[in-house]
Amino acid sequence: MNKAKHLMQRGTDFLGCETAILCGAMSWISERHLVSAMSNAGAFGVIACGAMTPELLDTEIAETKKRTDKPFGVNLITMHPDLMKLIDICGKHEVGHIVLAGGLPPKGSIEAIKETGAKLICFAPAMALAKKFIRSGVDALVIEGMEAGGHIGPVATGVLAQEMLPQIAQDIPVFVAGGIGRGEAIASYLEMGAAGVQLGTRFVCAHECIAHENFKKAFIKGNARDAVASVQIDPRLPVIPVRALKNKGTEEFTAKQREVANMLDAGEVDMQAAQLEIEHFWAGALKRAVIDGDVENGSLMAGQSVGMVTEEQSVAEIIAELMQQAEAALAGQKAA
Ligand SMILES: Cc1cc2nc3c(=O)[nH]c(=O)nc-3n(C[C@H](O)[C@H](O)[C@H](O)COP(=O)(O)O)c2cc1C
Repeated sequence: MNKAKHLMQRGTDFLGCETAILCGAMSWISERHLVSAMSNAGAFGVIACGAMTPELLDTEIAETKKRTDKPFGVNLITMHPDLMKLIDICGKHEVGHIVLAGGLPPKGSIEAIKETGAKLICFAPAMALAKKFIRSGVDALVIEGMEAGGHIGPVATGVLAQEMLPQIAQDIPVFVAGGIGRGEAIASYLEMGAAGVQLGTRFVCAHECIAHENFKKAFIKGNARDAVASVQIDPRLPVIPVRALKNKGTEEFTAKQREVANMLDAGEVDMQAAQLEIEHFWAGALKRAVIDGDVENGSLMAGQSVGMVTEEQSVAEIIAELMQQAEAALAGQKAA
């Protein structure tokens, strides 16, 4: 067995696949085609439930099952108003792995997931939370740094990995995410004790990914420094940091915050209305970019590894490339 696969053994045993690379759930992107392609290529696809209704999730899981007989997971957002129904749908389909994203799991949700028989994976952005999750019976953790695309925390992947892997990797399988573009980085996290890795940005330009051509072109053109985190300009108007490629929308968001802050100062709106205006600015924006191809006004969520996305490739090619690079690094050779 090669060394990278050997180091991934704990991750592959846990996921039930050949290569411990998860394609992190990406709303509108991680649907039946990309998810089944990942799993068919020996890695691990995860459906992004996002704001889907239970009926839509039911269909998406069924359609994914038609395309692969390999294991895949479902990512559920903790704030979803129908979270419990979504968990039931996963149970009905005997989904093997559920990933909970977006903050602390509401009361009863961990127990409900475990009752379906699924393994539960949670995001642990800090050590205290990781330990709490381990105590609550969570089966694996993802630690994701601020280089990642989409909603991000404040700490870099390399720092999280150094802080957390030595302390928790022996207790629970840990998957490292954020900013991974090449196999050498995968090799280094495996050597530090990770069970595997999770990538998102690198898979957006897969042939099997349904993202609009314009969205893919923006990724191929984008450099690391173009994938910037959204900035909050007024302490009264909270902005959840999201990493995305700069475009007209990101510029207008800054202007919008300034406009709303001025309205607040002038007493033209109250605090609640002002905060809602900010919150609603990006509503539907990811879909606008991913599905409709509006790369000017939509949200181009992307991680800093976007600079390493240089062409459209098949999922199998991307995985093979990453694994060759990881293997060469572990053998002390230089990859092509
Ligand atoms: C376009 C896009 C959409 C995303 N949507 C979600 C999501 O709906 N739920 C989630 O948990 N993570 C989401 N993520 C994060 C990914 O699952 C993954 O953890 C992240 O992309 C890994 O970092 P990387 O982009 O540096 O590879 C998204 C990322 C991107 C790029």
